[in-house]
Amino acid sequence: MLPLELSNALSSLSLPKIHYFDELPSTNTYALELLSQYETCFDGELVITQRQTAGRGRFDRKWISNPNDSLTFTLIIIPTEEEKSRLNYFSPVGALAVSLALEELGLNPFIKWPNDVLIQRKKICGILAETSWVGKIISGIALGIGINIGYEAVPPASEVLFPAACIAEFTPKHIDKYALLSRIIDRIFYIRKELSFATFIQLWDERLAFRHEPVSITPIEGEVIQGTLKGLNEEGWLRIVLSNGEETFIIAGDVKLRPLD
Ligand code: BTN
Repeated sequence: MLPLELSNALSSLSLPKIHYFDELPSTNTYALELLSQYETCFDGELVITQRQTAGRGRFDRKWISNPNDSLTFTLIIIPTEEEKSRLNYFSPVGALAVSLALEELGLNPFIKWPNDVLIQRKKICGILAETSWVGKIISGIALGIGINIGYEAVPPASEVLFPAACIAEFTPKHIDKYALLSRIIDRIFYIRKELSFATFIQLWDERLAFRHEPVSITPIEGEVIQGTLKGLNEEGWLRIVLSNGEETFIIAGDVKLRPLD
């Protein structure tokens, strides 16, 4: 049954359906199943659980969460024709929405390009945006978001490749996770309206982590690139200046970005 605090927190959003579970292997996996029956699946359906038993991260990694201290959910997006040409941007949309919502709580988040949310250089949120296809047709996007709210959500250092933290480390305020969820979803819908405009890239660029710092970028295939991170171009590609002064651009995709300190 839908917890009352959850339905109250989401009441202003008029979502078409909320799929709530005490336990689920993965909200993204469940959302992809819903999207495979695309005639009955609608934009804005939410899948949320207290406990994921097989949470998934990027690069086929596990995503560890905790029933009390994590917020784990997936929002189903049925892209418009215009949005279909901008599918790569949906994970940054998630990161930006989380950042805007956290800023409203007085926090100072940054986005590790393309889509991890950091506070004080530690990861507090990961995004996994997966596209579902029925033949050659896109049936939708499963926009999965995992946030470390309290200390129990933070995975042990031995289990992560990038330092992790939780929101509670950076604010003495109590974080109402369902109120935060509501703000994030509201911001996702706001940012979608800006997706074709310079405002979206600007909002993303303003929150970029490690600007003017030396970084290394490891693509899934190809060579590691090292250089100074300069910001985004108008397409959201990452601008890197190499040690020989040449400029190169990294197109949004599956890369690992690290500061070189
Ligand atoms: C990453 O940083 O590697 C991405 C992590 C994404 C985790 C979220 S939690 C909700 C949704 N369900 C999943 O199985 N994964 C995403």
